[in-house]
Amino acid sequence: MQGVTVTLQKGGVGKTTVAINLAERLAAAGNDVLLIDVDPQGSATDGVGFDDVYVADKYLKHVLDEQDSTSPEDLIRTVSGPNSFDLIPSNKKLQRVSHELYEAENGEAEFYRRIVAPLRATYDWVVFDSPPTIGPLSNAAVVATRQVVVPLQLSKPSADALLRTVTNQLFALNRRLSGYDPIEVLSIVPNRVKGDNEEKHVLNALENSQFESYLPPFTRATAYESSGLGPGIRERVAFRRSYREGVPLAAYDSSADMLERFATLADVVEKESRASI
Ligand SMILES: Nc1ncnc2c1ncn2[C@@H]1O[C@H](COP(=O)(O)OP(=O)(O)OP(=O)(O)O)[C@@H](O)[C@H]1O
Ligand SMILES: [Mg+2]
Repeated sequence: MQGVTVTLQKGGVGKTTVAINLAERLAAAGNDVLLIDVDPQGSATDGVGFDDVYVADKYLKHVLDEQDSTSPEDLIRTVSGPNSFDLIPSNKKLQRVSHELYEAENGEAEFYRRIVAPLRATYDWVVFDSPPTIGPLSNAAVVATRQVVVPLQLSKPSADALLRTVTNQLFALNRRLSGYDPIEVLSIVPNRVKGDNEEKHVLNALENSQFESYLPPFTRATAYESSGLGPGIRERVAFRRSYREGVPLAAYDSSADMLERFATLADVVEKESRASI
C-alpha cells in the first residue's frame, strides 16, 4: 500500500476538495483506494455523503483503544459511483483522539500500527484529509504515509503557510524521527486559480523558490500558454456544488474540465510515490 496526506497549515485552501477528488481519480486509474478523514470538522466525510456517520458511536478512538475490539474494517464505508472507493469517516468527537495521541508516549506509531497497518493488504492507496492546524492528528497521518500533497491558493498567506508547514511540520517531524526516510512532498497544487496578476506573481515566486521542484508541469506558468485553461486547479463552481451534493466531482459532472487536472495529479502522485507503507 502507498499513502499520501493532503496537508497545509491554513484553512479553506482546498485540502478536502483535493483529498476527495484525488482519491476518486486514483480509483478511476484502477486502484483500490481508502480515504481517511482525520479532520474533526468532518468535511471529507460530509463531502462524500456520509454526514450521518459523523455522529456514529464507534470511531477511530475505539480502534486505537487496546481494550476495545473495534477494528478499522468496522468503520469502513463505501463511496459508491463509477469509481468507487472506501472511507473511514471522521467523527464529531474526533478531537478526543487528538488529545489521546498527544498524551501517548508513541502516538504516531500506535496510530500506524492499529489503524493503517491492518489495511495494508486491502488497498493500493490510502489518502488522508487533515485538519488545517498542525497537531497530533495531522502529524499521525503524515508520519503514517511519509508523503504529502500540499494544496494552496496563489496568495501571500498561502505561500507563507507553505513555508510554515514545511518548517514546522515536515522538517520538525524529520528531525524528531531521524531514523526514518525523510517525509517527501509529492506535489504542490495551486487551487482555486482565477488567473489574475497577483496569482501570476505568486506562482512566479514559487517557480523561483526552493519549492520549484514540487510544481508538476500542469501547475506552472507555461500552462498559461500551452492550454487555454491556465495552470493549476481552476476556480469552478462545480466543486462547491458537488460538495453540497455529497459526491466527488466526477459523480456530479462527468464532463467537468477539472477532472483531467485531477487525473494528472493522480498520475503525478503515483509516479513520484516512493514509500510503501
Ligand atoms: N477549485 C475550486 N473552485 C471553487 N471552489 C472550490 C475549489 N476548491 C475548493 N473550493 C471550495 O472552497 C471551500 C473550501 O474548500 P475545502 O473545504 O476543500 O478547503 P479545506 O482546505 O479543506 O478547508 P479546511 O481548512 O476548513 O479543512 C469549499 O466550499 C470548496 O467547495
Ligand atoms: Mg478540509
